[in-house]
Amino acid sequence: MRKRIGILTGGGDCPGLNAVIRAVVRHARGTYGWDVIGIEDSFEGVYEERFVDLNMKSVRDILARGGTILGSSNRANPKAYPVRLPDGREEVHDVSDVCLANLNKLDLDGLVVVGGDGTMAIAQGFLGKGAKVVGVPKTIDNDLEATEYTVGFQTAVEVVTDALDRLHTTAESHDRIMICEVMGRYAGWIAMSAGLAGGADVILIPEIDYDIDRVIKVFDRRHARKRTFSIVCVAEGAKPKGGDYAVLQGEDATQQARLGGAGEALAAQIRERTNYEVRVTVLGHIQRGGPPCAFDRELATRFGFKAVDLIHEGKFGHVAALRGGKIVSSPIDKAVKKLKRVDPSSDLVLAAKATGVELGG
Ligand code: F6P
Repeated sequence: MRKRIGILTGGGDCPGLNAVIRAVVRHARGTYGWDVIGIEDSFEGVYEERFVDLNMKSVRDILARGGTILGSSNRANPKAYPVRLPDGREEVHDVSDVCLANLNKLDLDGLVVVGGDGTMAIAQGFLGKGAKVVGVPKTIDNDLEATEYTVGFQTAVEVVTDALDRLHTTAESHDRIMICEVMGRYAGWIAMSAGLAGGADVILIPEIDYDIDRVIKVFDRRHARKRTFSIVCVAEGAKPKGGDYAVLQGEDATQQARLGGAGEALAAQIRERTNYEVRVTVLGHIQRGGPPCAFDRELATRFGFKAVDLIHEGKFGHVAALRGGKIVSSPIDKAVKKLKRVDPSSDLVLAAKATGVELGG
């Protein structure tokens, strides 16, 4: 009997998901002659039994395309699933038994789950009930312990670096302080990497609570040297010493809190204390859209290849991972339990400090 595997993409999308799907389909079909079933909109598609056959034609021309041809959802946790009632109201139900039964009906020889920590945690639950899960770590946040880099991160860094380059020229023309707020949730990887690459004068990350006086001193020092503009790259999860996260929407049973507003919160503190002209740019979902950069296309292809081989070897409960430049496997636990955050004593942070970047603390 021909083997059959499934694939789904879960959580927030990111550039490179299609490149993973393409690699999985090409390798599974081309090398092993397996059938590949695509599951639409993450675990929503498992619950509603929305499956599509994926063949060589379905993955044509998608290597460079952002988003995911399968769709995704970050509200499809089977344990806390928002079910629409006939009267239009929404109720949160545990639909994991239905999802498991639907997965069993598919009779898969392996399921590739492409996701971040939330999606991997859900997959781990099904693994415990016999599903043959392997994973591919993706998220622009790069916050999974399992791997040095996740698919999507490097593209987000490119987008932010480009934005910082652009902000430099207009900041200089108008003698302004330009604040650029970037994503990353509770990890400062995007802010740190892009801030360095884009020559930010100040980088504020969730791992280091900032002292506003230190930040303002940077602007004063630069002004004294006739550098009458400054660039600040602030992570959405950054907060002042003794202060709180800037939150747009609190968490509920079906989804995590939505962060946002750290840039404006910082601008308000600067305006309160100084006469500098400040503008805030929030890059938002632009960081998650558009074509993946070359690094992400390559990483996605190598991860997709590895995921298929993990199924071939029967190494379920593992995710593809990058370690020291090599693709290896890592237990799914490492993609779930602990967030990988920027280490304030890492060379990344030390290099920033040594080259004159203020980190606020
Ligand atoms: O986890 C990826 C991410 O883009 C975070 O950086 C951001 O905080 C969040 O998702 C935004 O989520 P949503 O797409 O639900 O607005």
